[in-house]
Amino acid sequence: MTNASPTSAAIDDLRTQLAAVGQDHILTFWDQLSAPQRDLLIADIASIDLAHVPQWVEKYVKGKPSFAPTGTVEPPRCYAFDDSSWDIDHYRLIGEALLRAGKVAAFTVAGGQGTRLGYDGPKGCYPGSPITRKPLFRVFAEWLIAANHRFGAAVPWYIMTSPLNHDETVAFFESHNHFDLDPASIMFFAQGVMPSFDMTTGRILLADKHRIATNPDGHGGSLRALAASGALRDMRDRGIEQISYFQVDNPLCRVVDPIFLGLHTAAPDSSGEMSTKVVSKVEPGEKVGVVAQVDGITQVLEYSDLSADLTEAREPDGRLRLRAGNIAVHAISVDFVDRLNAGGACQLLFHRAEKKVPCVDLRTGQVTEPTSPNGIKLEMFVFDAIPLCGENDTAKSSIVYEVDRVDEFAPIKNAKGNDSPATSAALQTERVARWLEWRKHPVPRSTDGTPDCTLEVSPITAMDRKGLQSLMLPEIARGSEVVL
Ligand code: UTP
Repeated sequence: MTNASPTSAAIDDLRTQLAAVGQDHILTFWDQLSAPQRDLLIADIASIDLAHVPQWVEKYVKGKPSFAPTGTVEPPRCYAFDDSSWDIDHYRLIGEALLRAGKVAAFTVAGGQGTRLGYDGPKGCYPGSPITRKPLFRVFAEWLIAANHRFGAAVPWYIMTSPLNHDETVAFFESHNHFDLDPASIMFFAQGVMPSFDMTTGRILLADKHRIATNPDGHGGSLRALAASGALRDMRDRGIEQISYFQVDNPLCRVVDPIFLGLHTAAPDSSGEMSTKVVSKVEPGEKVGVVAQVDGITQVLEYSDLSADLTEAREPDGRLRLRAGNIAVHAISVDFVDRLNAGGACQLLFHRAEKKVPCVDLRTGQVTEPTSPNGIKLEMFVFDAIPLCGENDTAKSSIVYEVDRVDEFAPIKNAKGNDSPATSAALQTERVARWLEWRKHPVPRSTDGTPDCTLEVSPITAMDRKGLQSLMLPEIARGSEVVL
């Protein structure tokens, strides 16, 4: 039976439109498709901004735009946690007042595909704590429970998924009783997707005869998805003014941080639009982007876009010159996101990535699993919004807050090696060890200085080292596992 809708004239018309942008191969298998499959393919095509396809292919698939800085590159002005020249307590009080007034939302970007980790499921479901193996989502939920208790106001939690992991993420929260948070305080929304392109031909790849191969449009897609999904309107309705943005893969993240929020909203040089947390890079080769000023404009430069001279340059005191490593924790105002979407959906630059994309062989109709990269994925990066801050007042821009790495940064990116579950677990233990030692409680350490034990503390028990002050602490034996 053939599908009566759309008509063959409509399909001819669609074929002509696709041919005009070099993509009519998408209909190669049309005659073999069932009616529901045809509907799915039509919907996939409708979700693509066809008019821009030739431009994307030319610029990003066939071309490789350079993001290397062309102007004068300087380190940014930085508020460092260990610098007494600024009044940290003043900003803490301002941030706490914002939280008590219910003006802050937490925002997790959890739409990534987590290919490097290779975990079968959304990354937020990954058991990321070292002993109890709590899912990352639970770690953040416990932080929010603690924050709600401390500040006496509920911090709503917005979670961005992608169409590829949305249903699984929502089901995970439902099956875990929303980790004891009020379900009405958690909002899920899916980000947009981009078609994946064949690396050599620039043709959009097919995931199946009736499906276009797509990838989430990057964490930068969050800035348009917040508006498009209605999340931003929901924030306004709740009286939210500031968004505490963080990634799903850092279990040491301070989900809402009063000092950071205070600086972001009240520092004299802050636009109050988008601010960034950094940690000091440990060595030039560390693969993290750095915050820098290029011709006076604050921005994040990816490590792969920096020359060796810039990466290795040092201050007279021996510290790296460009050491402000971006940990992808941002404070962003609701007004800024609104402004970015005012003239239509917020469009940031695309970055290209060469990936292995399973796809249909157009000659045989079979799905093939490539053994080397065959596709180009285009993604927007959230930090590309930073140079757009403070447009109306050049004296004010995006500010940078340097935090203690061990206190706030233990990413889980790779299955093994750097930034893996093992390195993250070691850092999580190290943080608790330092908190205990600050309380003068003995922690067994190996000869290389690392804790000879595994430690875990829930944010509900302690959000920072002071939280351990009133606790009865157990003796910690060598090689033991201790949950506080
Ligand atoms: P990464 O850049 O580490 O990517 O994302 P990823 O998709 O998680 O992992 P790989 O590269 O495939 O191994 C950093 C953060 O941005 C989110 C991720 O979920 C993670 O919290 N992200 C990334 C999105 O929400 N959407 C995207 O399209 C990409």
